[in-house]
Amino acid sequence: MTLSIDQKQTFLRNIWYYAIPGRQLKAGQMFAKQLLGEPVVFGRTQGGEVFALRDICPHRAVPLSCGRLHGDEIECAYHGWRFDRTGTCTLIPALNENQDLDLSKFQVRRYPVREVQGNIWIYMSDRDRGDVEPTHEVPMVAGFEGDTYQAVVTMNFPCFIDHAVVGLMDPSHVPFVHRAWWWRTDAILTPEIKAFDPSPYGFTMRRHRLERQTFFYQLIGGDAEVEIAFSLPGVRIEQIVTNTSRVANMTVITPISETETEVTTLFYTTIGWFKPLQPLLIPFIRTFLGQDREMVVKQQIGLKYNPPLMLIRDADTQAKWYYQLRSEFIKSRAEEREFINPVKSQVLSWRS
Ligand code: FES
Ligand SMILES: [Fe+2]
Repeated sequence: MTLSIDQKQTFLRNIWYYAIPGRQLKAGQMFAKQLLGEPVVFGRTQGGEVFALRDICPHRAVPLSCGRLHGDEIECAYHGWRFDRTGTCTLIPALNENQDLDLSKFQVRRYPVREVQGNIWIYMSDRDRGDVEPTHEVPMVAGFEGDTYQAVVTMNFPCFIDHAVVGLMDPSHVPFVHRAWWWRTDAILTPEIKAFDPSPYGFTMRRHRLERQTFFYQLIGGDAEVEIAFSLPGVRIEQIVTNTSRVANMTVITPISETETEVTTLFYTTIGWFKPLQPLLIPFIRTFLGQDREMVVKQQIGLKYNPPLMLIRDADTQAKWYYQLRSEFIKSRAEEREFINPVKSQVLSWRS
């Protein structure tokens, strides 16, 4: 059975997106970044608190990130207007004492942010003002609640978010795209049978013992069991538990624009040697992610001609769920009702 894909390029709103690794933002500094086509400036106060504002001065449009942090306020580079971390104007230096203006009328959009497990997340609402408080929380990597990640790699994919997300949950590309001595050397496909359950804003591949205990799994303790959870807008959390350790890989996908998407993969682990070996491991992670990126680059060549795309059962069922989750999310938000997960518990089988 094949299904066609809804190729409308709309971003999901009213949801948390991964923004930046927390370490990228030092106290008293700013960091500018485009997200979902919007310019955002992140700031960290001297006290360590993170905030995010639209990176455009409401006076005459100079990016606020071109200015500086003055205490806990941003001072615009052009005429020195100041904004606090809620986006409210607190000072217009050009005003005389007798010229009292209600400064609170000059507002910059504020975005809700959270810093958890070493990462900064941003809530992208569909309102002009960011004062809509999120109704759900940021996805967490279970088992590492108070921890921070031990390795991170970020890569930009030149595509709309959907193509990066679908690549993440596509089991049948693995033997073809990720051929490497340390992962898989062959393209001999074997049957896979996996059980799935619905989970908040997504689905989870039920925990199971891995049949193919490759070199990598031997390295981290052997007898590996794995569980993989996906949730909107593009968060994949893989938990690997072996005889001796626990490794979690979180891959998060954030749209920069309609044609550019950022893929970040983070590792959390109880393995003592992981951190010291990090400089050696990072190139492997980059290679792996780079293989996915290469394929997206090739895919763009064909997509230019706007061909219909297919999803076949069962290998592409997870991708099909993604599109269903996505459209249900858009609908439920528009109708201001509860999200009803379209995924039902079921077993899928494919060869990979
Ligand atoms: S443009 Fe920012 S203060 Fe004038
Ligand atoms: Fe891949």
